[in-house]
Amino acid sequence: MASSAVASSAMAAIRSSTRAVQPTSLSSQQGRHIVRCSLSSLHLRLSPTFPSQKQSLAFLPPSSLRSALHPPHPSQFSQWKKLRDAALFRPRTLVSSATASDASLPLGLTRAAAPLLPQIDISPSGAKPEDYAGDLLVLGLFSEAVTKSGDFQKLTATGVPYGELVGELVQETDFKGKPGQTAVVRVSGEKVKRVAIVGLGSSKESSVAAGFRALGQALATIAKESKALSAGVAVVGREGSDQNPEIAGAIAAGAVLGSYEDQRFKSEPKPITLAEVDILGLGTSKELKRAIGVAARLAAGVILTKQLVNAPPNILTPAAMAEVAENIAAAHADVMTVKILEKEECEQLGMGAYLGVSAASELPPKFIHLTYTPFEEEPKKEPKKKLVIIGKGLTFDSGGYNLKAGPGSMIEQMKFDMGGAGAALGAAKAIGAIQPEGVEVHFIVAACENMISGTGMRPGDILTASNGKTIEVNNTDAEGRLTLADALVYACKLEPDAIVDLATLTGACIVALGGDIAGLFTPFDSVAEELSAAAKAAGEKFWRMPMEEAYKEQLKSPIADFVNTGSRAGGSITASLFLKEFVDEKIPWAHLDIAGPVWNEKKGGATGFAVQTLVRWVQSHATAAASL
Ligand code: BES
Ligand code: MN
Ligand code: ZN
Repeated sequence: MASSAVASSAMAAIRSSTRAVQPTSLSSQQGRHIVRCSLSSLHLRLSPTFPSQKQSLAFLPPSSLRSALHPPHPSQFSQWKKLRDAALFRPRTLVSSATASDASLPLGLTRAAAPLLPQIDISPSGAKPEDYAGDLLVLGLFSEAVTKSGDFQKLTATGVPYGELVGELVQETDFKGKPGQTAVVRVSGEKVKRVAIVGLGSSKESSVAAGFRALGQALATIAKESKALSAGVAVVGREGSDQNPEIAGAIAAGAVLGSYEDQRFKSEPKPITLAEVDILGLGTSKELKRAIGVAARLAAGVILTKQLVNAPPNILTPAAMAEVAENIAAAHADVMTVKILEKEECEQLGMGAYLGVSAASELPPKFIHLTYTPFEEEPKKEPKKKLVIIGKGLTFDSGGYNLKAGPGSMIEQMKFDMGGAGAALGAAKAIGAIQPEGVEVHFIVAACENMISGTGMRPGDILTASNGKTIEVNNTDAEGRLTLADALVYACKLEPDAIVDLATLTGACIVALGGDIAGLFTPFDSVAEELSAAAKAAGEKFWRMPMEEAYKEQLKSPIADFVNTGSRAGGSITASLFLKEFVDEKIPWAHLDIAGPVWNEKKGGATGFAVQTLVRWVQSHATAAASL
């Protein structure tokens, strides 16, 4: 069947199958027909064999899909669930069948195996640590507790579970309770096989999130080494604090994150043994259980980010990233919708800066716009907050004609150049699951690749961005800011209350702050404070950098409105000043340069950096989080 006939028969089929989902446009690309519907999450990609799939389309629920996707009155809940499930699975089937059958094998014939994800049952327990029965008991000890009671007699007296044993262990291993210090002992004839002690540092210094997350992480590591199926964990000397839910959440997140290893590209992956964690001595309140639930959802978001950033560029292409966004929307279709803008639409919107970067690649760009809208039983009177999170999404950055050549250029690492996008999508996954109320969140990624070819942009080319500004490209390796420029202009049109962009933007930011700290750039003190508070609570490190106006001189071009790079010195600052030119100055905006912390050099893997800060920032704008 001719391509246009296939597409129009698809339109007709959708029209007759449902009243709510009206096809609004269609486009054809590489043998695929994309039908855009009034409900933007439903991008049905139809393969050329479409007529055989007509049947599936006819199964779309005939009633209003919009109302099917949003829970109605509690009395109609079960009916809604049925409709929603039906609505969810039909379009998803179509998306995956079309893409799976059409996709050719990726370069190198590599396919990612299904990830082995931690599935740990984490629950609070009222049991005393000494009564816990399982494979492993982990005790978190503050440094004060150890120095105060250096000998085991005192440890017994202060009520430390397995006090004598722990006392001996402390002495024999010179345990000082420093953060991350661990010691393990095998026991027999007890309710547990092993007792471990983990240092928490000083009780005065500990950041709750970072310190107790490290405790959970240490638990996971010890469990892995000893093949433990079950573990109990207690914090010595920390009963009855009002921070208990937060502590339990941090331990839970740490246990999940510490158990996860990215083995999708190993031919012989090792299974995860840990299946059960009991959090002892912190109570069993509703808030605590809720905190553990939220932490598990947050950890799932962080794991997604790690997977995205770790994935090689022959696997995680712009199209693959768009599909991840579609999957997030489909998994949370009650609160999320997605729109993928194809190259032609980006052209219509005038996104010349973004498309210039993508021009050398064989892979088409994908402009991803994922929207979270909280479910509200009765529409509230007060307006919702509207936030935008933008992530730099370069699935690979060769540098372009300004090739990343020579030692130190890190070209082989440039799969992580979508770390900002990875964090945005990880946060989207977590937010779709946590469902904060009163806040609408848009996640935007201008995904593409920076390559070299005869069709690519040259140094010296002049690009025109979607706000009409012209840019002389004096360095094709300063591509991130070009893609972000059009993403920022697009974001401003949404008239949000605030915008945060995240990017592995400059090597200069690593020079300034090292590998562990991200740069925070904003002209708005209020946004700086919000983000700093969120980062502190999340246990992630940001440092506010100056946006020195005088350096803007460096971005002047004799022939266009701007050049895209200034001098090497202060390179992360001029990059932020360039971005500022594409933001409506009335909209509170911050730029986060995560070039350093995106990657753990020692472990050779992604960190999932910024997801926890972003989620906390969104939560700080929410009126409430929906009950779990
Ligand atoms: N993706 C890089 C930034 C980067 C470099 C992140 C190394 C992590 C490690 C970015 O696109 C880039 O190449 N920036 C240039 C800018 C320069 C040409 C003004 C840089 O930092 O060298
Ligand atoms: Mn670059
Ligand atoms: Zn880059």
